Amino acid sequence: MQYLIANWKAELTYADAQEWVTLFARLLSENNSVTSAIQDKKLSIIVCPPYPFIPFVKDNLQNKGILIGSQDISSKERGKYTGEVTAHAMKDIIQYAIVGHSERRVHCNETDAQVFEKIMQCANNAIQPILCIRDTNDTLHAEAKIIAYEPVAAIGSGQNEDAAAVIEMKKKLMIPAATTFLYGGSVDRDNIRQYTQTGEIHGFLVGSASLHADHFFSLAQELL
Ligand code: PGA
Repeated sequence: MQYLIANWKAELTYADAQEWVTLFARLLSENNSVTSAIQDKKLSIIVCPPYPFIPFVKDNLQNKGILIGSQDISSKERGKYTGEVTAHAMKDIIQYAIVGHSERRVHCNETDAQVFEKIMQCANNAIQPILCIRDTNDTLHAEAKIIAYEPVAAIGSGQNEDAAAVIEMKKKLMIPAATTFLYGGSVDRDNIRQYTQTGEIHGFLVGSASLHADHFFSLAQELL
């Protein structure tokens, strides 16, 4: 199984998201090969919009086999936590949640301990966490079965890390064989092939190149 995950971050308006979904749905219906790969469980495409856009994206793409994730999840269980979006609240809406993204670790001072609480909230509510780690200093939690290695210098910079260095890090991290190992950091349609050719990387967490439906769709075609 190959994973292709769109992390829209805080880049799009609702109108942009609507346009994205319309074009992506059209591309899926015009190109059966991507849909077949999804149906054959060879490819999982997961879209992670901002929370308020999730129902719209889900309502329009889930019947095409697209899965939905959030970009974060609360570390709280449930209760009087104004403004929090909990796994308990989201459990019937999303299948995945990105946790520990470096932008949250840096801009929101998220600690490894909080990231662990988020993973446990996901686990308790049947949501699959996608754990982002920057390097060997971030803790790999055994409960997270999907790990996205995202070196900070490569994120949003256009400076993707070489496939050889990604594989080297995979070894250093001692990723268990049963764990899904993803790479993220300036992946685009011009560089994705060097990673797929290794056979060691199970998919991609994509920011910038996920913002345009046609570009993101061409990444899916590279994974067939
Ligand atoms: P990028 O973002 O593809 O723009 O580098 C990846 C990420 O931050 O998940």
